[in-house]
This record gives sequence, structure tokens and C-alpha cells, in this order.
Amino acid sequence: MAVLSACPKEQLREREDAFHIQRVERLWNGDHLLRGREPGTDDLQLMSNDYLCIQNEPALRQAQAQALLNSKADLLMSSIFTMDGSPMQQLEAAFADYMEGEEAIVCQSGFAANVGLLQSIASPSVPIYLDMNAHASLWEGVKAAGARGIAFRHNNPDHAERLIGRYGPGILVVDTVYSTDGSLCPLAAIVDLAARAGCILVVDESHSLGTHGPGGAGLAVALGLADRVHFRTASLAKTFAGRAGLIVCSRRFKEYFRMESNPAIFSSGLLEHEYVWFLEALALIRKADERRKRLREISEMVRWRLDEIGYDVGGGTEQIIAIESGTEPETQHMRDALQGEGVFGAVFCAPATPRNHCLVRLSVHSGLTDDDLEKLTTRCAAALRALRNEMS
Ligand SMILES: Cc1ncc(COP(=O)(O)O)c(C=O)c1O
Repeated sequence: MAVLSACPKEQLREREDAFHIQRVERLWNGDHLLRGREPGTDDLQLMSNDYLCIQNEPALRQAQAQALLNSKADLLMSSIFTMDGSPMQQLEAAFADYMEGEEAIVCQSGFAANVGLLQSIASPSVPIYLDMNAHASLWEGVKAAGARGIAFRHNNPDHAERLIGRYGPGILVVDTVYSTDGSLCPLAAIVDLAARAGCILVVDESHSLGTHGPGGAGLAVALGLADRVHFRTASLAKTFAGRAGLIVCSRRFKEYFRMESNPAIFSSGLLEHEYVWFLEALALIRKADERRKRLREISEMVRWRLDEIGYDVGGGTEQIIAIESGTEPETQHMRDALQGEGVFGAVFCAPATPRNHCLVRLSVHSGLTDDDLEKLTTRCAAALRALRNEMS
């Protein structure tokens, strides 16, 4: 590891150099690993988390545009000042009902929800047990609380139990669907463990809200476990296709949170037209069973076909399909081979993955036609052939 000089300005320059010179110029040959070429109209774009394709729904856009045109000046301030009967409270009540919770809190993002939640429920004396693949925002919450984060092996409740036995009860944290590889949490076993061990349970439903469970109410509801999970969080920048986050919690916790969580207190709330978007999106998503069914079929088919062709798609099962692509230079080759055939995924590298364990992540969506799936298979097969030829 490079030894950084003591002077802060020098130190910053060295860190910037490490990125610009060592990583971009040398390792990536001057070509940003996460970008590549611009996608065109015939290309298959599988980067977005708009799993049910609602972002371009005319009725939703119309409702949001109308709300923007009709709105009086929004209060640009922290949401702790929000009055009763506001659109924020309507949305929170609608989400609490949808997800079978007592109360819901709308936050500025999934990141703010996770950081604010952990900061307000943990402390330096409370150990936090996180699945090693839990989202980065949950790990940031550990730092914000000044707590000790203890990683357990991915999807391994037995390992979590052994660690709890060693360090004592605390807060147990999992995602429902893991954002890197699309693997599904063994939620029933985790819920049992939390109850047995006397832990508070936090479940991030970002990639299952809208896509899993009745009406898309999430994995906990699907498994009849909603009342056994203490806190559910979600990013609304996935299936809900907007910019916000969510916490489902008890009534007693909600008011405490608003005066305790730094992101809730010290950062401004959403604007009126954003609440309108989510209210409309919720009505649409509740009724979108056909899209959910199609998404499930597509997820299974694409994963199976990529595996058949010879891609390493890891251990996932859900709508995020991650191709393991190795080191950063190897990933650049894979990205180029796929883009060369008109397939665009999202490249994941450190700090989102361990160094040299990069991924090209394909997020499938319900709008893919049979024709698109045929194209995807043919193009991915051609990309792999090109890649192998290049290597041989
Ligand atoms: C599992 C998970 N939690 C939280 C977040 C953060 O959400 P947001 O983009 O709304 O801040 C993300 C987004 O990447 C996520 O995948």
C-alpha cells in the first residue's frame, strides 16, 4: 500500500493521482470502466432497476406534471416541520397499509433511510450483524452509529448465530434480494434467528418491493413475516422509479426517528409532485400482477440461458443477473464484447465488489419481449465467442 504524505493537500493529490493515473490511465487504458460506448436504439439496455417499466407510464407522468404545474410554493425545509394531512403523510399511510406495517416514514433516499435508521437504533455498545453482501448504505449506518459491524457469511444464518453467540445480541441486518448478484435471503430462517437470539431485525426490501409478494408488497409480506420484522427499509428508486426511501416501523418509533435521525433532521424533504408520483405509482404497482409474473418468467429464462451459453452467473435467482467478470481489465473486455453485440449491463467493481471480483450486472424488466429475449441470447452467445477468440 502506498505511504501517503503528511500534508493534507499533498495527501489529497496522491489519492486523486491513485485514481486518475493508476486506475483510469494505467489499469483502464484511459477508458472509464463504468461507461464504454453510448447505447443506441437497437441496443438492449439492462442497466435500470425500473423492473416493472413504470417510468414512462403516460398516466404517471401526466399526474406528476400536473402536480408540478398546480403546486404552490413547496416548503423547502426538513420534513420534521411537515403538518398533518400533507401529501407526505398520505403517502406514509398508504405505504404502511400496503406493506402491512403500523407506520411508514418516507426518507429522501434509500441511503438516507438506512443510515438514519441504524444511526438511531444502534450505539457503540450494540453489535450489528450484517450479511457480508448487505448494501453499502447499511454499512454506512453502522459508521454513523459509531457501532461495531460484524459481517456474517452471505445467506448463512448458522454463521450469524455463531457470531451472536460470541458477541451477544444486537441488530441483525439483511437485504431481501441482494443488489450485486440477485440472490434471495433465507428470510424465514433469519426471522427465527432474530427472535431466538433477542436481536432487532432490519430488512432492506429495495429489490423486492413492487416485485415480490401480493401486490408487490415485498418478501416479508409474501412469507407472512411482516409482523416479525422490526424494521423494513427500501429505496423507491427501483420498482417505484422515483427518488426516495422508506422505513416501515412502529408508531412509537416514527416520531422518535424524526427527532433523532440526522438525515431526517438536517436534510430537506421531498417536493409535492414527488409524493404525487409515488401515490400514483403505488396504485399502478398494486395491480401489476401480469408484469410481476412476466418479470419472474424472464428472470428465470435469462439466467438459465446465460448459464447454458457458458456465463458464470453466480448463485442468484432473482431479476438481477450478475455475470462474474474477474479483474478490472478482464471486465473491460467483457463489457466491450457485450456492448459490441448491443447488450448493455452495469459494471460493478470496487468499492461495490471486492477488488478483482467485478461483475457485469444485467437487470431484466417486464417489458422485454420474446423477440428481445431471443436477441439477448444470440448476442450474449456471440459476445462470449468473441471474448474467447480474443483470449486464445
Ligand atoms: C439494497 C439497496 N439499499 C439501498 C440502496 C440505496 O438507495 P437509493 O439509491 O434510493 O439511495 C440501494 C441502491 O443502490 C440498494 O440497492
